[in-house]
Amino acid sequence: MDKIPQVFPWVGAEELSNITKVIENNWLTEGPFCKEFSDRLNAMIGCRYGVFAPNGTLALFLGLLALGIGPGDEVIVPDCTFIGSANAVILTGAKPVFADVSRETFQIDMKNAEGLITGKTRAIMPVHLFGMSSDMKAVMDVAGRHGIKVIEDAAQGIGVTYEGKHTGSFGDVGCFSFFADKTITIGEGGYVVTGDEKIYENLLYLRNQGRLDRGSFIHPAIGYNFRITDIQAAIGLAQLEKLPVIIKRKLEIYRLYREGLDGISEVTFPGVEKGSNHVPFRVVILVPDAGKLMEYLDKRVVQTRSFFYPLHRQPCFKNGGSAGYDGAGLVNSVYGYDHGLCLPIYPSLSEADIRRICGRIREFYGE
Ligand SMILES: Cc1ncc(COP(=O)(O)O)c(C=O)c1O
Repeated sequence: MDKIPQVFPWVGAEELSNITKVIENNWLTEGPFCKEFSDRLNAMIGCRYGVFAPNGTLALFLGLLALGIGPGDEVIVPDCTFIGSANAVILTGAKPVFADVSRETFQIDMKNAEGLITGKTRAIMPVHLFGMSSDMKAVMDVAGRHGIKVIEDAAQGIGVTYEGKHTGSFGDVGCFSFFADKTITIGEGGYVVTGDEKIYENLLYLRNQGRLDRGSFIHPAIGYNFRITDIQAAIGLAQLEKLPVIIKRKLEIYRLYREGLDGISEVTFPGVEKGSNHVPFRVVILVPDAGKLMEYLDKRVVQTRSFFYPLHRQPCFKNGGSAGYDGAGLVNSVYGYDHGLCLPIYPSLSEADIRRICGRIREFYGE
């Protein structure tokens, strides 16, 4: 029997039909489909400006560069996130400093984060993890009081709002990913939004070899190539059309899991951050022994994923040896890693498969 995968992109006729139009246009690089995809994203997110990047990690890198972050600076990043959040900081030459997360929601703990602010701190990067928003009121309060920038990692945040406002639209910049496991996908891709004209101008120069015009060989600034293709944007537009259905289906799946796992005393679900809606990015559960349950499910054809390995423990960061790297105060990210796991969720996941997965978990706990 095939394994029930963790995620499975929902692409088909709508995407194919759009791709055909790109081929018929004979315009493969950023063109009309990118323009329309960008306009629609800006309208949905509620930001005036936005630019594409080749992936979410480079969207964060681009956003940080546009804020002028570089060597000698520190950026506060939650300890429980995908390593790309921190690597984007490292790419700029700045240092990521790790803050703990809430044990209830696994979003950045702003009390802990505020204690890490030093004279070198230039920005904070809340990460909207697992389909909910961080506490943006607390983030913006702390950032405002200390005069630091906010770069939102909304890689998992499409469709996610805080007090009715879309994630990514609170900070100086907000960054999204369209990787294949994301709520909407274009295969690989990223997006950076901002409401600030100057930051937007920086983004434009940085992403297009330090110039505004494509055809010109005069480059007023240093920049790179962060462009995507119209083929990707064509897929993105089809995905955006499907977004309401994707969100509805994800919520149904989440409800079916909650019902299916109800009454197993070992299984609990994290809470949703106050003020946030919930667009389940993963179905996250907390159990006494995440590793053992994952091993059991893996042998019984269910693909699971652990929580992110706490960043301060990453072998590649271990030698940092200063604030945020020694693990002091970083207890909840470790708790999440020890107890949390992610169950499969994707639009075509059947009710029968959800019942099977829940049945296996019941079996494991001897019910
Ligand atoms: C929270 C978070 N940040 C950053 C990224 C990086 O995005 P990408 O894989 O598109 O580079 C991801 C996704 O993988 C993510 O989940």
